[in-house]
Amino acid sequence: MLDSLKKIFSGGEGDEPVNTTGKPDISREKSAELYEKAKTYFPGGVNSPVRAFRSVYGTPLFIEKGDGCHVWDADGNQFIDFCCSWGPLILGHNNAKVREKVTEVMQKGMSFGAPTALENELAELILKHNKFIKKLRFVSSGTEAVMSAIRLARGYTKRDKILKFEGCYHGHSDSLLVKAGSGLVTFGETSSAGVPKSFADETIVVALNDRGALQKAFEEFKDQIAAIIIEPIPANNGLLLQDKEYLEYLREICTQNGTLLIFDEVISGFRVGFEGAAGHYGIQPDIITYGKIIGGGLPVGMYGSSAKIMSFISPEGNVYQAGTLSGNPVAMAAGIAQLTECLRDGFYSELEEKTKNFISTLNDFSSSAKYSFKAFSIGSIFWFAFSEKKKISASSDIDADSMNYFKALHHDLLENGIYFGPSGYEVGFISDAHSKEILKDAAEKICTSLERVFKKSAKRIAEV
Ligand SMILES: Cc1ncc(COP(=O)(O)O)c(C=O)c1O
Repeated sequence: MLDSLKKIFSGGEGDEPVNTTGKPDISREKSAELYEKAKTYFPGGVNSPVRAFRSVYGTPLFIEKGDGCHVWDADGNQFIDFCCSWGPLILGHNNAKVREKVTEVMQKGMSFGAPTALENELAELILKHNKFIKKLRFVSSGTEAVMSAIRLARGYTKRDKILKFEGCYHGHSDSLLVKAGSGLVTFGETSSAGVPKSFADETIVVALNDRGALQKAFEEFKDQIAAIIIEPIPANNGLLLQDKEYLEYLREICTQNGTLLIFDEVISGFRVGFEGAAGHYGIQPDIITYGKIIGGGLPVGMYGSSAKIMSFISPEGNVYQAGTLSGNPVAMAAGIAQLTECLRDGFYSELEEKTKNFISTLNDFSSSAKYSFKAFSIGSIFWFAFSEKKKISASSDIDADSMNYFKALHHDLLENGIYFGPSGYEVGFISDAHSKEILKDAAEKICTSLERVFKKSAKRIAEV
């Protein structure tokens, strides 16, 4: 990228944000004050790194409340929210049915560490409408679900190695904080300090959508790979949509080698249909992990499989996995209320249609203006690529300066009442509460912001 362009877009936390709107910046006084205080309590001022706005301009907005498709920050600014708590709020914020069910259950106590009928109720709701799993276990986060699924795969196959893909994220457990080294098939390199090298040595990392690398991995580590884990709809490093044939190929290679196929559906589960990506592509994985969407915004995760594989989990089997708050009644109540709504006739088709219309407005505008921008979507998940490529299916397809454009767009959108998660690698979400009118308004604002961002960059390039 040209140095001058780099300079306009450069920055991160604490940088002077670039105001492209010609209007004064929105007031962030209270958020800024809260952030200063938070920095004295939490590392980096946050309880999860992405929230710190290190990949975009400025400092975090502290959110005060949410309702429907809107959130309000501590300074009273209102935003149309496309982050939706990173996906789980498929009904929008503060949904009345979820709130009422949670409130009703909370009157009777909040946690017992003992079974409740609510766990049965949510499990029945899920299993009755998902033919890909027969038994499940509730946990409290996506990380926990994936970590447990990996242990289950290792216990079941009596093998140690797992294979993951560059560009997929599976939470922060040791075996999975591993990135590709150099070479076609690599033992991973840890992507966090504190992860022992010996753990990373059990994780093989290959590029997405590369059959050759996969074949080589299975030749090299024959009879050693317990599981392949993939986000069937990779949505943590952009939206790297895979061909159905490639996912089928994974199924095939796993079956041939006695390896389990794990679909990590923490993002795609209940988003691209009630049966998630497994249902969307019609592929039967061996284990599926799900996350926060099951809890309607409260901390829940889950993994599921066949009755035979799940029988390896303690106390039935000898793969140990436990959790004091697993299946806690408040989270179960939220899940029951939210997933019941998702089963409404036409729920997913309406959501998908709204998303498609929204995305095509942006793409039509961008192609007529000849901007290097394309929005991709599946179900109600979408992502903005600053690229002319028609298809982006591996991390290496993402244009190098994409994130700089996202930073400029993110800031401009905040100035105009639109909230996106603070990283260009993260996807956006549309909820049932995003009405057609709101989406039309948001699309217009995004087009205007794109115009400002592209004008600005083009102008600066011309000045060189
Ligand atoms: C695909 C995937 N797996 C696992 C996780 C971990 O979930 P959590 O952050 O709830 O622990 C995430 C988080 O976003 C995810 O996107």
